[in-house]
Amino acid sequence: MIITIDGSAGSGKSTVARKLAARLGIAYLDTGAMYRAIAWVGLQQGIDFEDSAALLEIARRITLEVDCGPTHTRIRADGQDVSEAVRSLAVSEVTPYVARHAGIRALLVERQRALGRRLGSLVAEGRDQGSVVFTDADVKFVLDADPKVRAQRRLADLTADGESVKIAEVMENLIRRDQDDCVQWAPLLKSGEAIVLDTSHMELAEVVDRLVELVSDRVRAPAGLRPDADGNA
Ligand code: DC
Repeated sequence: MIITIDGSAGSGKSTVARKLAARLGIAYLDTGAMYRAIAWVGLQQGIDFEDSAALLEIARRITLEVDCGPTHTRIRADGQDVSEAVRSLAVSEVTPYVARHAGIRALLVERQRALGRRLGSLVAEGRDQGSVVFTDADVKFVLDADPKVRAQRRLADLTADGESVKIAEVMENLIRRDQDDCVQWAPLLKSGEAIVLDTSHMELAEVVDRLVELVSDRVRAPAGLRPDADGNA
């Protein structure tokens, strides 16, 4: 079974995707970590992120190892485990340069499809998983939340990781990313293929319970009689 979770930054999709995978006992693929790993290598090498040829060269040359399980995605770049290092704000700031690069996207989309073929079942999380990477997914979700709520969540995560940042800085980073990100998942809204869930006023456990329920309904219901996020068939 392939389930995709796309949506805006800070909508809670990473944690929700990981918990959903754990509940279903299938692999969790955090595709953002792949874009972030390339950005991390770029920072280590001190490249100019406007130099798209240099970025593509890194993406082509590095060995990315992605280890997906029901509770984790761990990522190694050239043999070094960078799973934690890629979460920093410094990496978040430059990852959009990587994500905007069509050549790098093509490479990573192929890698993600290959992982899907190898694993068979997975919860794939990103911004293009339902619209580009796994267009035949069994269930597609899009998570969203109020920008203020998303900024607060992001700030809490970064503070827990020991980063010292201000809410205004986080908000600015989110707004900038929203412009790039929604281009990826907007087609799913237009086509009505995805189940959209606003998580602004939901606890994490509630969101996960709801998604488990919706996945079970989808698996049981014949096409054409499938419920939306509010349970309406
Ligand atoms: O989900 P995240 O915050 O880890 O994503 C990091 C960056 O990578 C963000 O700029 C969006 C981008 N990204 C993307 O373009 N496509 C994906 N499938 C996953 C992430």
